[in-house]
Amino acid sequence: MDINSIQPQIETDLAKVVTLPALEEVRVKYLGRKGLIAELTSSIPGLAVEQRGAFGKQVNALKNTLLGLLAEKEKNLITKDNIVKKSNLDMGMPGVMQKLGHIHPITQVIDEICTIFNRMGFSIVQGPEVETEYNNFTGLNIPLEHPSRDAFDTFYLKNYSKLLLRSHTSPVQVRVMKTQKPPLAIVVPGRVYRPDAVDASHLFMFHQIEGFLVDENIRFSDLKGILGLFAQSVFGQDIKMRFRPHFFPFTEPSVEVDISCIICKGKGCSVCGRKGWLEILGAGMIHPNVFAQVGYNPKAYTGFAFGMGVERIAMLKYGINDIRLFFENDLRFLRQF
Ligand code: DAH
Repeated sequence: MDINSIQPQIETDLAKVVTLPALEEVRVKYLGRKGLIAELTSSIPGLAVEQRGAFGKQVNALKNTLLGLLAEKEKNLITKDNIVKKSNLDMGMPGVMQKLGHIHPITQVIDEICTIFNRMGFSIVQGPEVETEYNNFTGLNIPLEHPSRDAFDTFYLKNYSKLLLRSHTSPVQVRVMKTQKPPLAIVVPGRVYRPDAVDASHLFMFHQIEGFLVDENIRFSDLKGILGLFAQSVFGQDIKMRFRPHFFPFTEPSVEVDISCIICKGKGCSVCGRKGWLEILGAGMIHPNVFAQVGYNPKAYTGFAFGMGVERIAMLKYGINDIRLFFENDLRFLRQF
């Protein structure tokens, strides 16, 4: 081995080194127990006596030179950029993914429906869940002692006989019309309460969207057009719609609105109870008595109103057969939306 070739050799090796482990490999190659320097040292006893001293010095000088080169390279490697390599931190390793939550299916459906009406010019208004007896009943032409109160029965606040949890979103009609003059077009999403026994289609709390529009010369055909657009936007272009006469105290005439069954397309199946139709909402022309309660002149204005259950729409849209699934907070269910 030519002692003079070693320094150029280590310089070539060091030039290729970019990590500390690679630097250690170079160190072992030259200065390790079986390295090149050790090899040179162990060759000394085999030399002629007069050569040994000079060669020994040469080897020592070379060793110091190598130590200096290695130290300098190490210093260069442990700069700011490379510190991570020394700490074993692997910047290429994927991070721990944070699980993001997402919007609850009921809120998604509320947003979708409100957006549809918003595009048609309706404003979105909200009202309180704790309501007055007047707004929930009397203002909507549901007189005390009238049997129709039963249909909208609710929870009363203890010690506040005139306050209750609203049993529908219709009281917001009264609130808005008492403070604003026509023309107006409003949708009201919100939570409502009823003292119903819980089963696959009933809860004591659910969501409704109320809609109403008041202006001069508003006709039933306007209601029909708006609801038709709504049903097609939510359930598809080929959906059919029908109106059945019904009774609501706050509208006259009143209707229940059905869409053709989205499962069997009207042929009759278990979802629609073989009828071919699914009820989706109640509606009608706002009763003159309601206008009188809010101080509108029933001769000057007409309007329509409608109300729908959000859970019901969501169940139809997604083919869900148990309303309780929405509120059990089972992520296996919720993650599907
Ligand atoms: N408030 C009714 C309910 O809870 C739904 C409803 C029906 C609202 C007809 C309306 C309407 O505005 O015109 O069942």
